[in-house]
Amino acid sequence: MRLIAANWKMNPGTRAEAKKLAAQVEAGLKKSKIEVAICPPFVFLEEVEERLKKAKLGAQNVSAEIKGPHTGEVSATQLKDLGVKYVIVGHSERRAMGETDILINRKIKVCLENGLEPILCVGYGTTENTTEASERKIISKQLGAALKGVNNRLTIAYEPAWTISKGFGTAKPISPERAAKVIKFIKSKYRKARVIYGASITSKNAGELAKFKAIEGGLVGGASLDAGE
Ligand code: PGA
Repeated sequence: MRLIAANWKMNPGTRAEAKKLAAQVEAGLKKSKIEVAICPPFVFLEEVEERLKKAKLGAQNVSAEIKGPHTGEVSATQLKDLGVKYVIVGHSERRAMGETDILINRKIKVCLENGLEPILCVGYGTTENTTEASERKIISKQLGAALKGVNNRLTIAYEPAWTISKGFGTAKPISPERAAKVIKFIKSKYRKARVIYGASITSKNAGELAKFKAIEGGLVGGASLDAGE
């Protein structure tokens, strides 16, 4: 089934806003035939969960450790206990903060061992000028490292880093044709994945992207903060 996951990032500012947005999104899903997941900041997980019926709950990160002296970290078992189903792992904004392939591989494993489905992001390190061949090399390396010793079904998000918006509508999306092509490549590398696209998805290009069967969903950042979008 196709998945649309909302990555709220470090938004909104208050619990009241988070509750309102979750309730608005949920209200819009009555007739939806696709799976929708909302990934709020950790501090809003419980409140958002209380407002979801159809939509699933996701988290934006997880610790590679299960418990103990890890200040500021949140474990897979703690997320599971809150009703989380999906966890975004290896997002380019986290890789930019220093997350390594080795750490990402451990996070993927900790999710799978604890009944959470990772949404592994690949595409970090690419720019507008990266050729198709080098992009494939970068993605292959990220997949190989993140999925070392992994054989489970999971979701992979192809996120060409340079088109991730810095806020709603601030970047130019790549063409759906190109997204579909890279997604097919990712699928050829790891058959057990549902492969979705993420970066600058809005109501303007979602329909075009959906026309491509290969694109099995989307990871939506900026636009996911507007229930109408
Ligand atoms: P964007 O973010 O939709 O705002 O480009 C996508 C993402 O970072 O997952």
